Amino acid sequence: MRVVSGIQPTGNLHLGNYLGAIRQWVAMQHQAESLFFLADLHALTVAIDPKELAANTIEMAATLLAAGIDPDKAILFNQARVPAHAELCWLLQGTARMGWLNRMTQWKDKAGKNREGASVGLFTYPVLQAADVLAYQATHVPVGDDQRQHLELARDIATKFNLDFGVELFTLPEPFISPAAPRVMSLRDGTAKMSKSDPSDASRINLIDSDDAIAQKLRKARTDAEPLPDTMAALAERAEARNLVTIYAALAETGADAVLAQYAGQGFGAFKPALADLAIAVLSPIRERLTRLLDDRAAVATVLEQGGERARGLAAPTLLAAQRAMGLHV
Ligand code: TYM
Repeated sequence: MRVVSGIQPTGNLHLGNYLGAIRQWVAMQHQAESLFFLADLHALTVAIDPKELAANTIEMAATLLAAGIDPDKAILFNQARVPAHAELCWLLQGTARMGWLNRMTQWKDKAGKNREGASVGLFTYPVLQAADVLAYQATHVPVGDDQRQHLELARDIATKFNLDFGVELFTLPEPFISPAAPRVMSLRDGTAKMSKSDPSDASRINLIDSDDAIAQKLRKARTDAEPLPDTMAALAERAEARNLVTIYAALAETGADAVLAQYAGQGFGAFKPALADLAIAVLSPIRERLTRLLDDRAAVATVLEQGGERARGLAAPTLLAAQRAMGLHV
């Protein structure tokens, strides 16, 4: 078993990243050899400011450490420092099909109507993501539901490569989607996922938000006037209410039905302050650790450097085997 996953170092980590991915990373690092990385190469597929990218990479790495990633257990690094990712990505470009990439919903969403003006990297983004996990023979990839399609593509690429070159080289990676919070939704719109790119900061809870900001965002979260029912099924048509109950259950590490058993019949006037208290209890220790870690950015950079060295060692044999299979070693 080998666990691999990544996150783009853009903006702040939010509650969706935490409940959908990072909390699983923290748990899985104790169960299997794990590699987690800042996907700085993926961040290059849209316009970037180099200084900002470098600062975000350190800050995001510090946030992962604050959230519980332990560099003695997991390998933490930034993707750009392990050249095997970009090299294997190029080798896989001959295997990936235009039609497969054209079907990617993230490509369609991000390019929008301006496909001609989108970067080539935005289109081939999922091939790099496939290289990220295939380079390490990952068996499990803990991600939120929005990455499921990219993982399926990685499996398709691995299968076709193995078949085309007559090798049993790449392991097919299994997506591991958080059962508790596969898709945390925006606090302003229960039909949109919570996202770093939402222009409204009130739509998400950032891991660096103060206690007051967390309480205020939850107080203002969009809801309805009905009291809470006693089953999740009864929330089918109430997206915002369902989202808040799901967040509560995920934070409390309990089931949504148990939450409803406690709050059935009550309105959001009672539920929201309880949710805010819970969110603050979980998130404020992370924020405090993060503040301390950011006092010594050089130490965070050292963690990434050491992680990069270990990751280079682990990726090298697979890259070499791929080159051999393709006739690149003469
Ligand atoms: P990114 O940076 O958008 O998100 C990082 C992780 O957080 C999850 N996530 C969510 N989960 C639940 N609810 C939400 N609202 C929510 N928003 C984000 C994402 O599913 C992800 O697991 N392409 C990836 C980064 C990547 C990667 C990889 C992941 C690059 N290479 C290889 C896995 C394996 C991305 O942009 O994630």
